[in-house]
This record gives sequence, C-alpha cells and structure tokens, in this order.
Amino acid sequence: MCSIIGYTGNGAAAQLLVKGLKRMEYRGYDSVGIATITSNHIDIRKGVGKVSEVDNSEKLRLLVGNMGIGHTRWATHGVVNNVNAHPHKSSTGQIAIVHNGIIDNYNILKKELQDKGYFFKSETDSEVIANLLQYNFDETKNIKKSMIKTVSSLKGEYSFVAVFEHGLLAAAKFHEPMVIGVGKNGYFVSSDVLGFVEYTDDVIYPDNKEIVIMNSSGLLQFFDFSGNPVRHQITKVSKEFSDVYKGEYAHFTLKEISEQPNTIMRAGQACEDELEKIITLLKNAKKIYVTGSGTSYNAALVAKHLFLKYGKIIIEPIISSEVRFYPDYFDDKSVLIALSQSGESADVLEAVKIASNKGTKITSIVNISTSSLVHMSLHSVSLNCGPEIGVAATKSFTSQLAILYKIANSLVDNSLKPDFLKISKSMSEILSDHEHICKISKELKNATDVYVLGRGIHFPIASEAALKLKELTYIHAEGLPGGELKHGPLALMDTSVYVIIINPNDSTYVDTLSSTYEIKARKAKVIGISDKNDPIYDHWIKIPSISEPFYPLLEIIPLQLLSYYTALEKQTDPDYPRNLAKSVTVK
Ligand code: AGP
Ligand code: GLU
Repeated sequence: MCSIIGYTGNGAAAQLLVKGLKRMEYRGYDSVGIATITSNHIDIRKGVGKVSEVDNSEKLRLLVGNMGIGHTRWATHGVVNNVNAHPHKSSTGQIAIVHNGIIDNYNILKKELQDKGYFFKSETDSEVIANLLQYNFDETKNIKKSMIKTVSSLKGEYSFVAVFEHGLLAAAKFHEPMVIGVGKNGYFVSSDVLGFVEYTDDVIYPDNKEIVIMNSSGLLQFFDFSGNPVRHQITKVSKEFSDVYKGEYAHFTLKEISEQPNTIMRAGQACEDELEKIITLLKNAKKIYVTGSGTSYNAALVAKHLFLKYGKIIIEPIISSEVRFYPDYFDDKSVLIALSQSGESADVLEAVKIASNKGTKITSIVNISTSSLVHMSLHSVSLNCGPEIGVAATKSFTSQLAILYKIANSLVDNSLKPDFLKISKSMSEILSDHEHICKISKELKNATDVYVLGRGIHFPIASEAALKLKELTYIHAEGLPGGELKHGPLALMDTSVYVIIINPNDSTYVDTLSSTYEIKARKAKVIGISDKNDPIYDHWIKIPSISEPFYPLLEIIPLQLLSYYTALEKQTDPDYPRNLAKSVTVK
C-alpha cells in the first residue's frame, strides 16, 4: 500500500528515488511522483501509472538535485489523477511532502488553513500536511518545532517525508511503516528496506511517534513527538532482502509459487526457541485466538480444523477487522496468535492492540521479522520464506501452515509430525505438472463464476483458492463447504459454472464425491483435485497421496498455479492485481 521514500546525500536523488520506488512496486499503487531540490527550489514531476511508464513520460529520473522525496500512491482520498498524485507542495512552494496513510481530521485542518490564506490544489487529505507544516514553519522558523507542532495537530495514521527548499529533509512515523537507511554516500528514509537495499544494509528502525531530520552534510537526528532526542542502534538487514529479482521467472508470483518445495523446508526449521515459548503459553492458555486477514485468516481456519480434529483443542479464529466489535472477548488468561506475512496489516495490528489492552498474551507468525507485529508480540516465529513480492500470498501461506502444523504437533504429543521432506518432494511433483494445469486455464479463462468446494479441513483451502482466483483473474469465485451445497448454492449450478472439487482420498472423499455427482447432474463443469481419479471429473489434477492431515499443504499448489495461468490467459497482471496492495496498512 503506497510507498514513501526520501534521500539526501552525494548521489543523484531522482535516479535513486525512481529505483527505490520500482523496488517497492509490489506494495501496490496507482500513481507516482518525485520531488527534488535544486538551487533552493523544489521541482516536482508526477503522473498516473506504473513507475516505468510515468518515468518514461515525465522523465522523473532526469530531475536534478541531491535531495528528494518520492511516492507511489494508493488513493484513499480523491480520485486517481495527476493533481492528487504526491508529492504535494505547500501554498508558498517552500515545502513538499509525500504521505502514506490517512489524516482523519484533514477537513477541519484544511478549513482552518484556508481561513488563514493557504490554498489547496488536490482532493487529498495529504496536502494538509504540506500547508500545516508551512504554517508552523512560518510561525517558528524552526524545522524541528514545526514538525512537532504539525504532528501534534494530525489525527489518523501516517508516515510522511517532507523536504524544505533550503535543503533539509524531515520525516515522521505514526502507525505506518518507516525505516532509515544509513549509506556511505547518503541517508534514505523509506517504507521498506527494499527502497534502498542496493546501497546499504545498515538500517535504523524508528519507533512509533518519532521524527527524523537529516541533510546532506551528515545530520541525522531522531526525536520523539515531544521533542526529546532519541538514540538508535544501526541494525544490519539480512542479505536475503537483495533476493528480490524475478530471475528466470516471468513473474514474482510464479517464482514464489515455485519456491515452495524449498520454503516449506525452511519453515520446517523455524526457530525452535520461540516456538517452544509459544507452545508453553498455549498449553497454559484459558482460550486460544488466532487472527489474520485474507490468506492469513484462511491459514487460521486450517489451524482451527487441525487443533480440533487431532488435538480436541478448540481455538477461535477471528478475522482481524472484526476484532474491534468484540473487545470483551479477550482476557489476561488467553493467548492470541496473529498471522501475517507483512506484519504491517493495519487490521491485524489493531486486533493485536485490542487484545493486548485486555492483557491477552500476543504471539505471532510473521514473514517480515522487522515488522511492527513482531515488535508488538511477546514471542514471534518467522516464516523465513524470503521476500514475497507478488500481491497474492502464495509461499507465505504454506509456510504459515507449516508452522501451525508444528505447533499442533507439539500440542498433541508428536502424533502429527510433518514429514517436510516428503511434503517438499510432493510439491515439486505437482509443480512439474504445470503444462496440464496451463491447458485447463485456457478453458477456465472464459468462466464468469467459479466455486471451489471442500469439506472439513479442505474448506479453508477452497476459500484460499477462491481468493487466489479473485485476486489474480478477477473471476467471481467462492469457497463452499461441501455439505452446504444443498442448502442453497445448488441453485447456482448450470452449464456456465465451473466447480473445483478438492477431494483427496481421505475421510471426506466419499461425501465430496457424492456432492460432485449432484453438481454434475446440474451440468456444471467439474475440475477434481485429488490423488484418485473419477470419471465424473471433466478435468483431473493429480496430487500425490500423503497422510490425511497434510493434504492442505499439497492441494493449494495446483490451485495457485491454476489462478496464475488463468491470469496470464486473461492478460491481467498476476504480480500487481488491480485495486490491491501487498500490505494493507490502512483500515
Ligand atoms: C492474499 O493473497 C492477499 N493479498 C491478502 O488477502 C493478504 O493475505 C492480507 O492482506 C493479509 O496480509 P498479511 O498476511 O501481510 O497481513
Ligand atoms: N491518503 C493519501 C491519498 O489519498 C495517501 C494514500 C497513500 O497511502 O498512498 O493521497
């Protein structure tokens, strides 16, 4: 969701900013812009579209100067157009800002500033930051004071970077991501380490409610929102962050799907210490809650089935964005497991805050180990699956499941031990069948409605498959619990409908097959995902047999591939689906 970046140093700012924004494209955006400072003047170029398109048309990289800011916008306030694209200048043109997040009280502030003679060009909430900062700077003639006064008036959630025309850069963080890169030839401020990882792996993670001020002469100062100086250690980021190229793959999504035989092994070796601590908390918990959004929530649903079926342990999965309606659910004797690839989803962080306020112990399973969620957790286990750039979660999902299986196994006295080597080999086998899946996608591309049916533990996988189809192909898709078919969805079945049946040869097999016959009798087309063929399937996608609890780890792989190849057939961009962002950092 949107990226902000700033640079000050000896390098050509525009080129560094454009490169950084390209690296962060995975976060999702609709328009792009940069501003640089030359001879005490701020120049801005911006436009709607991808970074490379806007760079080609507006020649972003040719802006001159050694200090600048950049932005990819994911519109929340105001339509997607050039005027609303960031950066935004103050009325006097002396300050320009880029902003990630939402300013809740922007209407009130805007009115006050307009009454004082400041004018606005855009419909965004963000422009109010530029003019407020200008107003406070005009009053105080001091950048630190004007930043402190500005943040004290803003309500909402934000990180923003401002450049002042006389050559200073300042940034503030309030519940939105912001990291600082400390390079030999300059400093960066960015939403993500990927914005600058090519130039430095020395990073500072400011805490929430902090301001940073920097310039090209080596000034780098941190303050809290009250103005007290803050000291930070430099952290070295893992070199794996530089592993962000697609390599020989056409898309990040395909690369990430294909990495799963490897990432599942890495998740299998998850940090035992932290895992043990989480397991101890769970063993002593009055209640166990699991929360997440989107794919991460589907992983929570798999956990519910696992814990219940194999351990007779009842856990409560809650969609993160729903937690705010049930704050009294939580107490100090319970444990919450928060699942998140990014560790930055606003809904998940809010859910964690609500539970934490009630004394619930917070644990998490996260891919980005430097994320806010990890900081908010008592104990956290890393997915360790490397950067996931494609907006659709793929490898992070199977890694989440792998760790949940490990936790479940410990809670049921090792009777559910995953054989990760076997799982990994079976995944490779499925991936090698991609030509068959590719052929099916040529037919599926014409579908307008796809239902994915599964029973028991396969229902969350059906929901996850439907989510993948929606995101990647824009085809309407729904997960259905097999037994519910006759309670309504059967009315939808006709020749135009495709139904994907998740039907491994396990305890759900017979019931699911009989649902398939009911569907077929209504002439819908049927794609079976199973280790056992049946003539009822119009298409059969074979998965290897495995012990019953572990089928979910295998059956999602062909469904990810099918979504990917259908996206290619429909000529949608699988890495950057329309209207979506990788980390949804607004509520
Ligand atoms: C998954 O394909 C989606 N892009 C989305 O539903 C995602 O899983 C959700 O936004 C949660 O993200 P997180 O795991 O980073 O918190
Ligand atoms: N709220 C701002 C806007 O609509 C910033 C959105 C973002 O984070 O990109 O312009």
